[in-house]
Amino acid sequence: MSFVVAIDGPAGTGKGTVTKIVSEKLNLIYIDTGAMYRAVTVKALNNSIQPEEIDKIEEILRDISIIIKRKDDKQQILLDGEDVTEKIRTPEVDNLVSRYAAIKQVREKMTALQREMKREGNIIMEGRDIGTVVFPDADVKIYLDATIEERAKRRYKQNIEKGINCNYEEVLQSLKERHILETTRKIAPLKQAEDAVYLDSTNLSIEEVVKKIIEIIKMGVSK
Ligand code: DC
Repeated sequence: MSFVVAIDGPAGTGKGTVTKIVSEKLNLIYIDTGAMYRAVTVKALNNSIQPEEIDKIEEILRDISIIIKRKDDKQQILLDGEDVTEKIRTPEVDNLVSRYAAIKQVREKMTALQREMKREGNIIMEGRDIGTVVFPDADVKIYLDATIEERAKRRYKQNIEKGINCNYEEVLQSLKERHILETTRKIAPLKQAEDAVYLDSTNLSIEEVVKKIIEIIKMGVSK
């Protein structure tokens, strides 16, 4: 029997970084579901399909293959066999992904693929709707949060480190807009599952968040 750890929360909480570290420490399969929505966006853009063109979206979803592979200590994303690890992180995809991620057919397909991934073993899956929609009966659910100002500060620092030119106010504004879109969309909006443990990372270091998450998982698994 495999078990599932669901980690949800908004962008900029350090969710990806801490989930990856926890997965390595506890030997769990790490699944970044945001990367899957990003891969769909790349496929739509490659085929010049707008989010309104539902028939065409359905067509590209029909035979889509999204594979998340571990290569050395990095995650590699294969879309229909092609390595799109870099392509899914471009500013164009950043700006458009929430529109494709709001489409019912896209969410249904991704949810089905995510549920199948449980067959691979014990998993830690990170996203927006894992504890609420994808695995409502996950063994452990955590909602990782931080204030919007702190999230903007972290995203800003991350961009500068990556050499992406930006200013703090713009990053803050874009996070605020994304937050509204993600929490108010009709299907699978971002929200804390009733039985999730709430963890505020505003004043915590990555190491502290990792430690707390491991404690929560150990408590949850031994229940
Ligand atoms: O976590 P991220 O920034 O890579 O997510 C990319 C987009 O996908 C973002 O718009 C939120 C959306 N997403 C979602 O709707 N549901 C998920 N389970 C994961 C991500």
